Amino acid sequence: MAGDAPIEQNEGRGQWTSSLGFILAATGSAIGLGNLWKFPFITWENRGGAFVLVYLLCIVAVGLPIMMAEILIGRKTQKSAVGAMKEAFGKRWGIVGGWGVLAGFVILSYYSVIAGWSLFYFTKALGWSMSGFPQGAQLGDDFTSFAAQGGLQIGLSGLFMAATMGVVLSGVKGGIERTARILLPVLFVILILLLVSALSMSGSGQALSFIFRPNFSELGMDGLLEALGHAFFTLSLGMGAMITYGSYVAKDQSIVKASGVIVVLDTVIALVATIIMFSVIFSVPGMEEQVGGSTVGMLFISLPELFYSTVPFGRVLAPAFYILVAFAALTSTISLLEVVAAYAIDEHGIGRKKATLMTGGAIFLVTVLCALSFGGSSGLSAFEIFEGKAGVFGTLDHLASNWLLPIGGFLITLATGWFMTREDSEAELALGGVPAWYSYGAWRFFIRFVAPVAVGAILVAVIFFGVDFS
Ligand code: TRP
Repeated sequence: MAGDAPIEQNEGRGQWTSSLGFILAATGSAIGLGNLWKFPFITWENRGGAFVLVYLLCIVAVGLPIMMAEILIGRKTQKSAVGAMKEAFGKRWGIVGGWGVLAGFVILSYYSVIAGWSLFYFTKALGWSMSGFPQGAQLGDDFTSFAAQGGLQIGLSGLFMAATMGVVLSGVKGGIERTARILLPVLFVILILLLVSALSMSGSGQALSFIFRPNFSELGMDGLLEALGHAFFTLSLGMGAMITYGSYVAKDQSIVKASGVIVVLDTVIALVATIIMFSVIFSVPGMEEQVGGSTVGMLFISLPELFYSTVPFGRVLAPAFYILVAFAALTSTISLLEVVAAYAIDEHGIGRKKATLMTGGAIFLVTVLCALSFGGSSGLSAFEIFEGKAGVFGTLDHLASNWLLPIGGFLITLATGWFMTREDSEAELALGGVPAWYSYGAWRFFIRFVAPVAVGAILVAVIFFGVDFS
């Protein structure tokens, strides 16, 4: 195959250096604030065990098949979201790719605000570690006033966006893959250290049984559906991110093996992060009630104090933890921007540098609105379209998790299951060899029936019963 036209064209677009390079980049996309910030919180809200089990089922029955489908579409066509959907399924399907580009735009615009918080708390933790944690600190109040400082919020998210743009404009190999190759190992090491420390704490036993002992009487319908929605978000599915990353995969690499590794790593990291946070929380009497409030609370209000009061080696681990969150977020924001930039590059013939600056700049304009929606601007903070989701930030998060990703994912499954021939999908998935657990027949059954029905159920629930997944 080497030397024929498509491969050359491909090299112009960029390609991962190896299967490992792709796996690291895609795992970097998957592991992010969804794992460290969202998953522990929704597990907490849904009282653990049964929710975790259902989530794991969703990952295997819906997430893994759709992961394979997205990478398949990208690798087969060697095009990014819009071009790939057009080429694989016909011109009209281009709109599904466009929907994904829109989702990438929306998610990145608010995601970078929280990513900015992790940078700020990293510097704060560094300060605490060096000069001591202040006695009687009111972290809740501190956080509220921090979030309301518009200028600071814009600066932090701007810094994060600039870093993201810097990586994306350096290209697939030299930017995205290289960053993932450096940051992911660091991330794994920090998590292992944190895990060891957390497991030595008195609350770890209670944490483990909270997470792994199912009690189905505690799981409602909405919890079930929330698990499904989160499976999309955490695996970066439903908006063509994996189509775009898949388009840089060489033809001699195995989509099935890579998908398996990405999905397992993402799941393990989410569970490890949850074990760490819950071990800390359960080790402190009274903390359980205090945490209840919000996601933000767990990561930026409860944890900082606990690092300095209870966690073994907390002074070293606190800054490490926040830089870990920032690194995890960066490898995810890169993939979000890449979807939008690659669309501009592939479909409008704009050079990578210019495309990155233009799309990143446009997204940042919306980021500014999100950054001001935590009190920085009263109008932007109070603004409400979806009931109970105040502010530009709340609105966009709701829009993405409840509408953009599930709808995109639903259409991608339908397309792959019903509008691509058996010969085409079977051949593409077989390239590069398949692992022992793989069965084409099983995949096809899941992608045609199980996944669309499950995702359809989320949509029906949202539309007719008003269930909320964000
Ligand atoms: N998966 C990332 C997380 O868990 C977020 C993310 C990155 C994402 N790229 C995406 C979500 C594409 C949906 C689609 O934090």
